[in-house]
Amino acid sequence: MTIRIILAGATGWVGRALVAAIAEAGDLALVGAVARNAAGQDAGEAAGLGQRLGVTVSATLNDALETPCDVVIDYTKPDIVKHHALTALAHRRHVVIGTSGLSADDYARIHTAAEAQGCGVLAAGNFSITATLMRRFALIAAQYVPDVEIIDYASAKKADTPSGTARELAELMGEVRRPGTARAVEELSGVRETRGGAIGAPIPVQVHSVRMPSFTLSCEVILGADNERLTIRHDAGASAAPYVAGTLLAARRVGSFVGLKRGLDAVMG
Ligand SMILES: NC(=O)c1ccc[n+]([C@@H]2O[C@H](COP(=O)([O-])OP(=O)(O)OC[C@H]3O[C@@H](n4cnc5c(N)ncnc54)[C@H](OP(=O)(O)O)[C@@H]3O)[C@@H](O)[C@H]2O)c1
Repeated sequence: MTIRIILAGATGWVGRALVAAIAEAGDLALVGAVARNAAGQDAGEAAGLGQRLGVTVSATLNDALETPCDVVIDYTKPDIVKHHALTALAHRRHVVIGTSGLSADDYARIHTAAEAQGCGVLAAGNFSITATLMRRFALIAAQYVPDVEIIDYASAKKADTPSGTARELAELMGEVRRPGTARAVEELSGVRETRGGAIGAPIPVQVHSVRMPSFTLSCEVILGADNERLTIRHDAGASAAPYVAGTLLAARRVGSFVGLKRGLDAVMG
């Protein structure tokens, strides 16, 4: 059965790569695309494919949803992704969320809406296979080594902080990690912000974000113990290709469950 997809963010860095991959996939069909500046254009041309796909780009997701679809994929911006997810769910569409910037409260609201509508939502701060492996290894390590902190590196232009990769990892680690030995931030003198942001519960993880030219996206987990240290690091290259396979796997599987699942490993088997 062909899975019909509406892609929000079809002209973006990741969106363009997804348009090309969906057009090539025999079991997927692009039936709608959203991007404000390319509204009215053919999605294939707007995404730089050099060929028409017969799908017109819409200015809003609401417009695009006039065409029946099975799954909405979102790779847009942090300020619109929650609205897109809830709009898609209101139309009883499954949702794959690649866009970063959603908070734990946002995810809770999306989960509730998904359950109410009998739909699935799969959100991942990082859809690449190797980043998913980094996360899996880091979560195992955090159960054994009490002191852990995360450094998140991204380009100077990135709109949100920390990255979705780092935020999601800290939230998951907060659930499984043991109490660390570093002094509590409240007890410190000096500029406390330099210790980073505390993310996750019940035991938060300090996350430090570096933003500067030359970085694409890297995430480093440092686990320290007495006289030894383990560093687990993922570096993304310059192309969006690593996110495409994971996102399409999510689109194929998101209709198989109800509610919100987070992380590509939820459907990797
Ligand atoms: N989960 C992952 O594996 C992963 C990997 C890479 C990136 N990301 C995240 O994915 C998001 C997109 O990244 P990107 O680098 O592809 O961004 P990008 O190149 O800036 O593309 C954003 C796309 O969204 C559209 N858009 C922006 N605001 C919109 C709105 N209000 N309504 C409708 N469309 C809108 C843009 O077109 P218009 O401006 O013309 O509307 C464009 O097509 C970011 O949050 C990024 O951090 C996640």
